[in-house]
Amino acid sequence: MSINHFPTTIAAAHAVADRIAERLKAKPSIVLGLATGATMEPVYERLVALHRAGEISFARVTSFNLDEYVGLPPEDPRSYRSTMDSQLFDLVDIDKARTFVPDGLAADTSAFASRYEAMMREAGGIDLQLLGIGRNGHIGFNEPGADFAARTRVVDLEASTLEANSAFFDGKLPPTKAMTMGIGTILESREIIVLATGATKREAVRAALTGPIGPECPATALRRHANVTWWLDAESGAGVAGESLAAE
Ligand code: GLP
Repeated sequence: MSINHFPTTIAAAHAVADRIAERLKAKPSIVLGLATGATMEPVYERLVALHRAGEISFARVTSFNLDEYVGLPPEDPRSYRSTMDSQLFDLVDIDKARTFVPDGLAADTSAFASRYEAMMREAGGIDLQLLGIGRNGHIGFNEPGADFAARTRVVDLEASTLEANSAFFDGKLPPTKAMTMGIGTILESREIIVLATGATKREAVRAALTGPIGPECPATALRRHANVTWWLDAESGAGVAGESLAAE
């Protein structure tokens, strides 16, 4: 595991986008695991800018998103499908038929979840997974207590997650359930990039990197993966600056 520290949020996000672009250039048919959330907005902005500048093409990319709210139709602007369309997919040359997001309206959620896992396998597995982190240490929507071996499934969201994400719902609470890749699914990616920015993530980052490994902090599972890089700004990384793990 390595940790990259950056002075500002934008520098960290742009560096992550540049790393994704580098991987995409090296393997144009890359399978990406994608995340949503405020943290990722500047990453996608930079990827769109690199595409517009003729630097990168998504024409042969396949993508799988981590999660989706249960009960939100894809056309709802607050769904993660809509978010991905408006922040990235509709702005680059990706084949939308090869962009996959869990179906928040699936009638049989466990059948859908198994199919989603099978589609990832059939695509050859995820080459590069982009991850954010919740204030409570969640990854995807795997809340504290989640089994490290869990696969894609429907989960209940914690009150603190609902409150944090109410910012995207005009201050009202989001749906209380989501479908998410499991921690076991995430750990199968060949490479993982975690981007965490801002003071609200400092405690989760510190716990993830230096606390006891266990389900109370789902992100500690990442310490069991051989190829994880953390990308932090000054605020999120303050708690781990100077740690022996720190700075590449
Ligand atoms: C959300 C998403 C996660 C995301 C995290 C942080 O609820 N399910 O995939 O990484 O929480 O979100 P944000 O970047 O908005 O802080």
